[in-house]
Amino acid sequence: MTPHNEAQPGDYAPTVLLPGDPLRAKWIAETFFDDARQVNGVRNCLGFTGTWKGKPVSVQATGMGQPSTAIYVHELLDIYKVKNLIRVGTAGGLTTKVKVRDLVIGMTAATDSAINNGFAPYTYAPFADYDLLSGAVELARERGFSTRVGSLVSSDTFYVEGGLGAYQRLADHGVLAVEMEAATIYTHAARFNARALAICTISDCLVTGEELSAQDRQTSLEDMITLALDTAGRF
Ligand code: HPA
Repeated sequence: MTPHNEAQPGDYAPTVLLPGDPLRAKWIAETFFDDARQVNGVRNCLGFTGTWKGKPVSVQATGMGQPSTAIYVHELLDIYKVKNLIRVGTAGGLTTKVKVRDLVIGMTAATDSAINNGFAPYTYAPFADYDLLSGAVELARERGFSTRVGSLVSSDTFYVEGGLGAYQRLADHGVLAVEMEAATIYTHAARFNARALAICTISDCLVTGEELSAQDRQTSLEDMITLALDTAGRF
């Protein structure tokens, strides 16, 4: 179908979860979906479709960073006519307002990337879909998950000079956490008149150096995935 995706039209459900890691996509499909089937294996950037509580749902890995993510997301929206995109990922905390294992739900995503320049001029502010956002927040609060709603920054660079210093002025302006994909997902969704949301587990804190333990990583991922699936189930 495309150089990056062998799925046929109709192979993806209207709602697609977006982890970065292909093996996490496989794990999500095998652990949570009923009747999971692989729909994409090109470059091992795995995609699956199945059902969750009786409703069709898909998961597609994006790879790391906005250029890779933009390819998969563009095709999901343009070719496969997907309507709801929910990123499920990890992020680094930029402030002590968020703790390791917290969920950060990205209302907006700043970026240092030039990736939006050709599409959205000015200092475009990529934003989450309000209905997905409010649905996820409501469910997260019902479940007692420690959750913050606010701004992410989608960085083009993982190994930045100066660590936290590189992001300090953003943190001073309320940005909670750094990851590498949300801004382009939000921008694409807006362009294709679709919905998008990024839910991130804080895996490490750039202020304290604290990191998620292996055990907590697993349970917090499970909490995040079921939250994303139940949010998706409302649409
Ligand atoms: N930088 C970028 N992405 C991340 C980080 C980080 O420190 N932690 C988790 N995802």
